[in-house]
Amino acid sequence: MAPVLENKNILCGITGSIAAYKVCDWVRSLQRDGAEVRVVMTKSARKFVTPLTFAALTGNTVHGAMFAVGDEEQIPHISLARSSDLILIAPATAQTIARLAHGLADDLLAAIVLASEAKIIVCPAMNSRMFLHAATQENIRKLQEYGYLVLEPESGMMACGEEGPGRLPEWHQVRDAVIAALTPKDLAGKTVLVTAGPTEEPFDPVRFLGNRSSGKMGYAMAAAARQLGARVILVSGPTGLVPPAGVELIKIRTAAEMYREVMSRFDVADIIVKAAAVSDFRPAELSAGKIKKTGQDISLPLTANQDILQKLGEIKDQRPKPPLLIGFAAESDNLVEYGREKLRKKNLDYIAINDITAADSGFAVDTNRVILLDRQGGQTEFPLLSKEETAREIWNRVVSADRSK
Ligand code: CTP
Repeated sequence: MAPVLENKNILCGITGSIAAYKVCDWVRSLQRDGAEVRVVMTKSARKFVTPLTFAALTGNTVHGAMFAVGDEEQIPHISLARSSDLILIAPATAQTIARLAHGLADDLLAAIVLASEAKIIVCPAMNSRMFLHAATQENIRKLQEYGYLVLEPESGMMACGEEGPGRLPEWHQVRDAVIAALTPKDLAGKTVLVTAGPTEEPFDPVRFLGNRSSGKMGYAMAAAARQLGARVILVSGPTGLVPPAGVELIKIRTAAEMYREVMSRFDVADIIVKAAAVSDFRPAELSAGKIKKTGQDISLPLTANQDILQKLGEIKDQRPKPPLLIGFAAESDNLVEYGREKLRKKNLDYIAINDITAADSGFAVDTNRVILLDRQGGQTEFPLLSKEETAREIWNRVVSADRSK
């Protein structure tokens, strides 16, 4: 399966901020995702990191001069502008942002941006007073009007010792934005409701019944749907994960809370993805105080929870345009047989089954080996992939099946 940025040409425009050093790792990550990366550095950027670093990382000449006599590209701003699918300007200083806002072409990066039809993502990084100054804010508004995506800087302690907004965002957020900008919007106009993570069923103020779900598969499904242009609502049990940018996050704890949140959004969802590991049982009683040990055994009566997916399957055909239902199942044997049975019983359109006995698949790991079954009898076996790749492949199948209807 092709890496997510295969055949994409990305130009990194690096400007003069101490945060420039972080972009060395970013370049590496883009390459791992299959992108061809070229780098342009402004004069001030070269004071923070040497061009040699980026030349060694990319294997390509690092550009900077407007008129590169003797270089293989005589008019670099035109050739780089034409050949780039996306220009990532990071870190973007107040100076560069002002330059771009005013359409100046007095350095190579600004000239490329003016001459290019590529997608442009700008990651401001500067002292927070400079960032909050009305002039910078006005310039950022202009960039947004031109159709550039300006990522919100993070707040925190900065190299200058002050605190406030002005730090580069975390790479995973920038990477999400890069992938989203280069992904066709096959789910535009659709609302996708994703459930993810475990549920916790408390029996006293400090203890609960839980499970080992990390939420990674559900979060990957939400992130990929967002990149495909959907409105994404993520109903999530307790996880340590950062929600993907741009999704509406609803935090729940118990299966009953998940049931309520999902049902109240049933009418707006075009597609429902039930990746959550919902507890099938809850303690019949919740003790108001912490249960004390007495040295004796205790037993904990359990009550069955509502099967949310089953319920969705029962009511979906009441809607004039039924939502698409995608379930997940963790199995240890007879994967396909049990998967088919669940698909039929719960009236699903798809079910993604994974083998929980494999060490590299399922709970709490970053990879998965999934078999996707559809209600027409189709069966696709994916190889061992990251959960992010698995999510993309599942959406590819769903989108192309929808298109061929
Ligand atoms: N599910 C749900 N509500 C529940 C239990 C499960 O919505 N109370 C959903 C899960 O989100 C998942 C699918 O149902 O999409 C899993 O089906 P399930 O029959 O629970 O499979 P297993 O958890 O593998 O359970 P078992 O094999 O024990 O029946």
